[in-house]
Amino acid sequence: MCGIFAYTGRKNAVPKVLEGLEKLEYRGYDSAGLALIDRKNRLKVIKTVGYVSQLSEEVFNRSRTLSGSIAIGHTRWATHGKVSKINAHPQVDCSKRVAVVHNGVIENFEELKKNLKNKGHRFISQTDTEVISHLIEEFLNEGYSFKTAFQKALGSLVGAWAVAVLSPLTPETLWLGRFSSPLAIGLTKEEIYVSSDSQAFPYNVKKVVFLEDGQLARLSLQNRKRVEIFNLKGKPVNYQLINKGLMEKVNLAKGEFPHFMLKEIFEQPLTVERGLRGRVDYSNKKVVLGGLRSVEEKLKEKEFIGLMACGTSLNAALVGRLFGVGALGLSVWSENSSDYSQLNLDKKILDRSAVFYISQSGETADTLSSLKLVQKETQALNLGIVNVVGSSLARRVEAGIYTRAGVEVGVAATKSFTNQLLALLLGLIYIGQLQGKQLVNQDKFFRELQLLPAIISKVLQEKEKIKATAGKLVEVKNFMFLGRHLAYPLALEGALKLKEISYRFSYGDSLGSLKHGPLAVISPENVVVAVIFSQEPELKKSISNIHEIVARQGRVVVISDLPMGEFPPAIEHFLPLSHLESLWLMPLVTSPVLQLLAYYLAVFLGREIDKPRYLAKSVTVI
Ligand code: F6R
Repeated sequence: MCGIFAYTGRKNAVPKVLEGLEKLEYRGYDSAGLALIDRKNRLKVIKTVGYVSQLSEEVFNRSRTLSGSIAIGHTRWATHGKVSKINAHPQVDCSKRVAVVHNGVIENFEELKKNLKNKGHRFISQTDTEVISHLIEEFLNEGYSFKTAFQKALGSLVGAWAVAVLSPLTPETLWLGRFSSPLAIGLTKEEIYVSSDSQAFPYNVKKVVFLEDGQLARLSLQNRKRVEIFNLKGKPVNYQLINKGLMEKVNLAKGEFPHFMLKEIFEQPLTVERGLRGRVDYSNKKVVLGGLRSVEEKLKEKEFIGLMACGTSLNAALVGRLFGVGALGLSVWSENSSDYSQLNLDKKILDRSAVFYISQSGETADTLSSLKLVQKETQALNLGIVNVVGSSLARRVEAGIYTRAGVEVGVAATKSFTNQLLALLLGLIYIGQLQGKQLVNQDKFFRELQLLPAIISKVLQEKEKIKATAGKLVEVKNFMFLGRHLAYPLALEGALKLKEISYRFSYGDSLGSLKHGPLAVISPENVVVAVIFSQEPELKKSISNIHEIVARQGRVVVISDLPMGEFPPAIEHFLPLSHLESLWLMPLVTSPVLQLLAYYLAVFLGREIDKPRYLAKSVTVI
């Protein structure tokens, strides 16, 4: 996690970097800092605990006159060392000649630190990052040029790193390096920007270069080449300039909404419409996915479809698996990319699989490392279902489907989840078409698919009822979300949403598992939120389960497309779902209800909605 932003150009670099950091705050927001070379060629470092706005205030109050044409900045999500000003980045060396900002984890930092301490270096922070500045200093002390010292220092690191370095020894140069953590360079005619996420570049940035693993860069406006990219041995490498016009324009304003999360929930009719646009031939009941066309022949031959993701994206994968198996007769498996390693890699299955890596950010370290492992060990066809255009995942897979949810700022995934569900349905139908498998009840499905944006709009009109229900649950400390079959991953997602933004304990489980343990914790203190679809298999059992819970004084909220009268009168709250004829589309009308329930509960509890504690939008560190 953590966000890096840097700038060099004619304008004052300080406000430029602060502006960029604000946009990257979703990556971490416990402390922030920046370093610049001022007009007198001195290295200045300013750091604060808290949000970037606090850093801006500090700059305004104490250092209003700070000005320079080159600066690096950082917004932190702590990994090593508590949240404190000392541990905030940039981290500098003993002689204040090297300032470093870093995103990632240096696995061998303790060993490096010990060696450096033995050589007389004085460390002041508990961060792993500080070793980088001292390592560069050490190589400079040994007489190497800055470039070689930088190369050698980064070559000594084990782990994941994206770094930006500034030094008064090379006052017009930004030094960058990347291994496993993202870093992009944005160019205008007269300026160079650097960011962990290209979406944070201003609109006038037209060309973007993405650093790849093991690549370092020297950026300077004084140098004719401006951008030089080389490997860890110092050998120049070619790079590709990507036209930012191809990437999405970002609207980072909340508009009339008090929080990004609410804005993003309410964007869903539009984002679903966008996710469908040009991809469905309703009259012939066919799906057309340009992003997968290049791999059509390979897709025809793959016997298995794999779905790999973590967090919310994994919950989408679980829905996709049930759909692929139940509605299309495909063989679909899913894996949690947070828990994937050589030990659960089944080469026999993978060689015969097309694997979709599902990720909103396209930068999730767990999912990227699963992709790397599968690419190295197997013959799988690797595909992406990704929201962020041009992200690391999007660049590394052979082909894929963009989810088209637009930029998601709130840390809790909302519209991106719903659009992942949509992309999965479309992707699996497309593969089914190629393999001659017909969708069960396809007429109903395609009819309702077309109406989906309007149906989701109607669901959102229920917000007051959902808000009122949330208002009655404010005192509840523990929640249990339960669902059967297709409602099970929705229960998992409802529980995840609620816990991450309300900080209430909540967990998701299968309704079918009730008697296998969870029944023991039913009590008036704990609330069960049951998601029940009228067309789910074993519906009668689900209704009996609700009877079993209320018989034990359990408090229950039912979310269902069945009439309320189907449930025991003792249930405490009922949130109706739109009834769809196609069971398979039910998750898409259920997710906004779960999102709103979590949102309003967190609002009533006074939580920091868009930036929940300890979390960050993209998990770039395992
Ligand atoms: C929860 C949430 C996370 C992400 C997970 C994967 O609201 O956002 O659980 O879903 O970190 O992130 P991506 O989809 O970017 O790979």
